[in-house]
Amino acid sequence: MVKAIRIDRTGGPEVMQWVDVEVGAPGTGEVRIAQHAVGLNYIDVYFRTGHYPLPLPAGLGMEAAGVVTEVGSGVTRLKAGDRVAYVARPPGAYAEERVLPADALVKLPDSIAFDDAASAMLQGLTAQYLLRRTFRVEPGQTILIHAAAGGVGLFVCQWAKALGATVIGTVGSDEKAELAKAHGCDHPIVYTRENFTERVKEITNGAGVPVVYDSIGKDTYKGSLDCLAPLGYFVSFGSASGPLPPIEAAELSNRGSLFFTRPTLFSYIAKREWLDAMASELFEVIASGKVKTNVRQRYALKDVADAHRALEGRKTTGSTVLLP
Ligand SMILES: NC(=O)c1ccc[n+]([C@@H]2O[C@H](COP(=O)([O-])OP(=O)(O)OC[C@H]3O[C@@H](n4cnc5c(N)ncnc54)[C@H](OP(=O)(O)O)[C@@H]3O)[C@@H](O)[C@H]2O)c1
Repeated sequence: MVKAIRIDRTGGPEVMQWVDVEVGAPGTGEVRIAQHAVGLNYIDVYFRTGHYPLPLPAGLGMEAAGVVTEVGSGVTRLKAGDRVAYVARPPGAYAEERVLPADALVKLPDSIAFDDAASAMLQGLTAQYLLRRTFRVEPGQTILIHAAAGGVGLFVCQWAKALGATVIGTVGSDEKAELAKAHGCDHPIVYTRENFTERVKEITNGAGVPVVYDSIGKDTYKGSLDCLAPLGYFVSFGSASGPLPPIEAAELSNRGSLFFTRPTLFSYIAKREWLDAMASELFEVIASGKVKTNVRQRYALKDVADAHRALEGRKTTGSTVLLP
């Protein structure tokens, strides 16, 4: 038996129970891993609350890093002792040990520590696809990212800066503004006190930006649409403040033929070769020092309820890892 978090109903952080579970031996094409660090992500909150439905009872957690302890038949790419990391469905990463399809795992370069890997698989790969695939950021462009001091936010600020972009980022406090600035955000806007749409128009001399990366949703989407230049991209990749209402096509045409996309990481890593290419680009920018991981909170996995309270209460910055 090993310890893991399970929920048998949706609700507040208290629904997460630290229980004994049977892991079993890996089947064909599977490996068993001992997990050294687990990443905390906002999507874990969506599953816990039922905002994203899940058959119950269920595990939670989408990513972790650890060591392969056993391989099932047919697995040739991995062997016991390999250092690995993953971001994968279904949720269940909040566990000491786990069995997963070998195809979900990437080998970790020796230079990347387990906690850095656990902080980077979901948030860093998200930054990769947002900036390199959903809308390909070019040198000289100005972009807007919300929650710039958060987990995804710090990856996006650094990476966009390294690509030669000017970064405008919204944040919930002056301390977060300082942190975002230290990570490549040229123009932090404290959106709890300033009107971010007006500030974006000022900073861009009225032109607006070609892309907004909006993970806040309900509270920001209207202002975000108003920040866009004609033919701009509204990339709605999360809903920390609540889901968006339906958007009329006219809202896009009236503002100048805007594009609207609602991407998720899992579409972008659906093919093994896509995952490999994205992960190697991510590990490369980390190894080069252009993008640094930012594990700024650590919790024992059994205390994950405290970590959820901090994340939902906007108390965390950068990434958070859970230690089994
Ligand atoms: N679609 C995808 O593929 C994908 C992948 C990864 C993450 N995401 C999304 O990206 C967002 C960021 O994820 P993360 O894990 O890196 O979290 P995070 O940014 O570290 O934390 C969420 C941040 O959102 C901001 N926020 C604004 N309004 C909020 C509200 N009403 N309640 C709570 N937070 C609020 C807070 O920052 P301020 O105080 O600075 O406003 C908070 O710190 C989430 O919406 C997540 O779902 C999407």
